Parts: sequence; C-alpha cells; structure tokens
Amino acid sequence: MVAARPSGLRAAFRAVRSHTERLVAPLSAEDQVIQSMPDASPTKWHRAHTTWFFEQFLLEPHAPGYQRFDERFAFLFNSYYVAAGPRHARPRRGMVTRPDVAAVTAYRAHVDAAVDALLADEAALAPEVATIVEIGLNHEQQHQELLLTDILHAFSENPCLPAYDPDWRWRAAARAPGTLIIPEGIQTIGHQGGGFAYDNEGPAHRVLVGPVSLERGLVTNHDWLAFMRDGGYDTAALWLSDGFAAVQAEGWRAPGHWREHDGGWHVMTLGGLVPVDPAAPVCHVSYYEADAFARWAGRHLPSEFEWEVAARSGELADAFGVVWQWTRSAYAPYPAYRAADGALGEYNGKFMVNQMVLRGSSLATPPGHARTTYRNFFPPSARWQFTGVRLASFPA
Ligand SMILES: [Fe+2]
Repeated sequence: MVAARPSGLRAAFRAVRSHTERLVAPLSAEDQVIQSMPDASPTKWHRAHTTWFFEQFLLEPHAPGYQRFDERFAFLFNSYYVAAGPRHARPRRGMVTRPDVAAVTAYRAHVDAAVDALLADEAALAPEVATIVEIGLNHEQQHQELLLTDILHAFSENPCLPAYDPDWRWRAAARAPGTLIIPEGIQTIGHQGGGFAYDNEGPAHRVLVGPVSLERGLVTNHDWLAFMRDGGYDTAALWLSDGFAAVQAEGWRAPGHWREHDGGWHVMTLGGLVPVDPAAPVCHVSYYEADAFARWAGRHLPSEFEWEVAARSGELADAFGVVWQWTRSAYAPYPAYRAADGALGEYNGKFMVNQMVLRGSSLATPPGHARTTYRNFFPPSARWQFTGVRLASFPA
C-alpha cells in the first residue's frame, strides 16, 4: 500500500500516479482489456481515463503550448462529462483493444511529464490550478479502488479463478462488542475547515440526530451465515419490494463472489478463492441485502448523519479501511449545495438520485483518501464493491 501522501503537489502527483502503476504491475495485457460487466471498466481504461482527466482539465486550459498525445483519446477516455464532449459508451469499453497497453503507458508518461513541468514552480501556481490537481489526485485514488474491484469481478468470472495477489488476505473484524449511544441532539454534519473535500460533503449544516444506538463492530460472515441458514434469501417479508425482485432476478443466495465448493462456502478474493472466514466482516452485499439483514436482526441501518457523528467520536471499530458501510440515507444534496459551473460541476451533483450513501472506506481504498465526512454512493443493487454492514437500533 502507498504511504500517506507526501506534502507538496508535485511529490503528491508522482506518488499517486506511481501507485496506480504498482497496482497494475501484477496484471497482464490481456487482464487489462477485459470488461466483465457494464458497471466495471477495463484496467487499461482506468489508467487512460485518469490520465485524460489531467489532460482535459489541467493541461489543456492551464499549460501553455501543451500538445495532446492523441486527439482520439478524448472520445475514448471521457467517462461522463457531457461538457467535455462526446464519449464512447461505457458498456463497450471492453471492445477497445487499440490503443494497446503500451500506447496507454506512453500516454501516461506524456501527461506525467507535462504535469511535472507545470508543477515545477509550485509557488507560482494559481489557486484554481492547485485545486484541479487536488481533484485529479483524489479522482485517480477513487479509480485505484475501482481498478481492484473491477479486476476482482473479472477474475471471479474466470473458471481458473486467478489470484490478483496470492498473498492477499482478508483480516478478521475487530472484536468490538457493545454499542455506542448517540443521544438526541443537533449536530453539525459535513466538511468544514481545511483540507481537501469533495463538493458533495458540504456545505456543513445542522441536523437533528438520534437518539440511536450504533453497533461498534461490523456484521461478520458468521452473522450472515445465520441469516442464510434461517432462510433470509427466501423470506419475502424481510425485503424491500425492489430488493426481493433483485434476489429473484439475479438468483442471489449469498453475498457476491461467494460460491459453494467442496461442501462449504468459499469466496473469491484478490488472493483467489478461499474458504469463507466466519470472523471476517461480510463483504460484497448490496443495499437491498444489508437492509433485509438488518430487518431480520431486528435492527436497521444507520443514517449517514448518525454514522458521521459516531465516527467523529472515535468509538466505532473498523470505521475505515475494512468495508464501506451502507447507510439508510439516499444520496441527495445537502441543503445549500450547488454544483459548480462547468464540466467539473458534473463530478458529483448530477448523480444525486436513485443511489444510497456509504460511509467509511474499504481495504481497497488508498490510505488517506477517506474521512469522516466522505460520501460514497452506489445504486442499491450494487455489490461488486467492498461493501458491508453496520447495524443500528433505537436505544431501549
Ligand atoms: Fe473518473
């Protein structure tokens, strides 16, 4: 894993960019081209798209005389920025064998050299340029996690079940019995003060929170196996209507990447197929599954505000670095939120419907990337990310 980011924009840029290449190192050229489902992107695309981001938003407007590496790449590697022009269809990213991996490596080197030159005299940078670099670095860190979740999905579709890293291991959930009680009160939610944050984390505002009791620990595979043995996936009364429809349509019988093998449950991991460890936190469950499990357990999922207040107290175990935790909060703008003008205003704001908020971070999140106000979001059916469950209840 990469160490905490160095201070100084140029050093940070070099550290983040080289970490992407370290993550890619175990992958062959063939590995880097595959797209195993419409929501997942090829490794090669992640490497090129994060590079295009710097070319499009930093170099083109702010590096005088910059020459684009290849004019066709804007169409190929723009993801969803309508203001930045037309783009290739997301579900068809796996069709693109040319440019090949070597060309994408050269593209990264071309852009790296230009950004390095631009950042040589950091004191002379306009504040808005430094802001774009920060967004670009955080954007690339988000894609570092996606790169791992997407290759895990691809490898899970491979009958040979390859290991991304044979030494990769799940770790047990922290032993953290008991609950944290948050009494009713008005709390400030959202990012304030210094340091980087995405626009969707603000503006900070006051919210009535609690009373609520949050489990200090995460739901484990042991817990989830009990839910399965109790017919959880067959009991319609536990599920939201859309959730049970997903169970039936997708044939869900267990969390994502789980499979029965030699009479026991196994799970496909970045280290290959391994027996399910009862002590490890459950992972690769959708919002629908998290919600049904909570109902089965006589609990509910915390709101994102409850989670933030609890995490701020430092009393939660495994709040960060294990699994993202679903909340019952729909992904919506904070009260005074306005998306910025221009293409970068498309980064978060236009996705604020039909998705649920996850809090914390996962073991695939680059260190230093997440924080207590961080708002991740996915559709309620998504389960190829490192997503798990923390339960809440009403205090007796
Ligand atoms: Fe992106």
